[in-house]
Amino acid sequence: MTAASESAPFAAHSDSIDDILAGVLRGKDGYEVATETYLNGRASSDARALLPLAFRRRVGAFFTSSPIRAEVSAILGRLPGTTYLDPTCGAGDLLLTAAEQLPIQGNLFATLSSWNRSLQGWDLHDEFVRAARRRLALYAASRHIAEQGRVRSSIRDFDRVLTSIETGDALARLKAGEGKRADVVVLNPPYTRVSAPPGSTWTGGRTSAAAVFLLESLGYLNAGGHLIAILPDSLRSGSNFERWRSVVEAQADVLEVRKFGLFDDHADVDVFLLVLRARGYGPPRTMTSWWRNTDADLRVEDKFLVRVGTVVDNRDPKEGPPTPFLTARDLPAHSDMSVPSRRREFAGRLYKPPFVAVRRTSRPSAEGETRIRGVLVTGTVPIAVDNHLLVLEPRQGGISACRQLIGVLASGEITEILNERIRCRHLTVRVLKELPWQD
Ligand SMILES: C[S@@+](CC[C@H](N)C(=O)[O-])C[C@H]1O[C@@H](n2cnc3c(N)ncnc32)[C@H](O)[C@@H]1O
Repeated sequence: MTAASESAPFAAHSDSIDDILAGVLRGKDGYEVATETYLNGRASSDARALLPLAFRRRVGAFFTSSPIRAEVSAILGRLPGTTYLDPTCGAGDLLLTAAEQLPIQGNLFATLSSWNRSLQGWDLHDEFVRAARRRLALYAASRHIAEQGRVRSSIRDFDRVLTSIETGDALARLKAGEGKRADVVVLNPPYTRVSAPPGSTWTGGRTSAAAVFLLESLGYLNAGGHLIAILPDSLRSGSNFERWRSVVEAQADVLEVRKFGLFDDHADVDVFLLVLRARGYGPPRTMTSWWRNTDADLRVEDKFLVRVGTVVDNRDPKEGPPTPFLTARDLPAHSDMSVPSRRREFAGRLYKPPFVAVRRTSRPSAEGETRIRGVLVTGTVPIAVDNHLLVLEPRQGGISACRQLIGVLASGEITEILNERIRCRHLTVRVLKELPWQD
């Protein structure tokens, strides 16, 4: 199946907009609610209703919701610029947000012609592009009614006017330098995985498509231009994107990093808004931080060695002497524990109690709930520890230092820091090391 035909069921969405537009352009009343619905939210609900989830996941077809659009709109209102590009425009939600910044002209044709010079949007899928064009036309018509009391227009063929919204592969276009540079790039890329472009200095192999789209889009800005992106939180807080963040900082000033929380009620991924100003290559200059820095005098790493458990159970050979083996499923929820009864042959690094074990996966917690719990492990024999656990060994102070750490980790302050610092589910060694220590 081609990219074109896979999006074919979404045609019903655009056909409905054509009907609404026909009514609006004939000057009929009673289309206000439908207009509002089709400009806000209906593209997402129709995508869910008309397109299989497997297809939407594969191509990352999750359109920006109204609450995120409202934040993007407020930011766009503060930025200079008259030309906007959305390289992965979907049904045009971010282009609609950009169009809020553009004036209307004397009639609908003149408005859309002028918007066609200011807005560029690309998407792999024909039916998303068709919807984006119609939604822009519907929005322009609603602006004419609001600002001039009527829509003066005889145009019916929006595909001929809004030619800058077109089908295309953004990565290929960005690389080839097709299209025009823009004052502002608005970007909500697919959150799928792609192969890293050849020669990438920040990664090898497969990686986040969002990370790749962002770097490629940066090159499409006019000098001093801005980029606003909605990105998965792993890019902000994940240790495996540390080099990616450095590459971003080498090319752009990081103006704003704003955590948003869940993308919407239907996509269970935490996102953040990133605002950048392009400035060409130069020494990294961060104007804001990717996360709140703690200015504590002492950090957990000053008191504890923090490591990941060394056993990868399904990969490591069962060699060496049978050894007590600690796994996440054996960790009690609330109490201390002594040497686990589970045994495994293992020839690698062992940990000598006392130490504190912490699960590596932890969801951001609801208000008032503790994010992570440490478990004190005591005993006299060394233990093999599964790599789904983090191990914190006291530099001094033994069991009492461990108990103190468990108290620190359970505190409201640490929960707050962790919820802000790391929205994705994998705690990292670095995050735990950098937590402030309270005596
Ligand atoms: C997360 S959606 C965002 C759509 C829109 N920017 C918005 O905010 O609502 C990502 C879009 O990227 C499109 N897409 C995926 N890969 C692409 C590519 N290589 N070139 C252009 N568009 C692509 C998908 O079809 C999908 O519509």
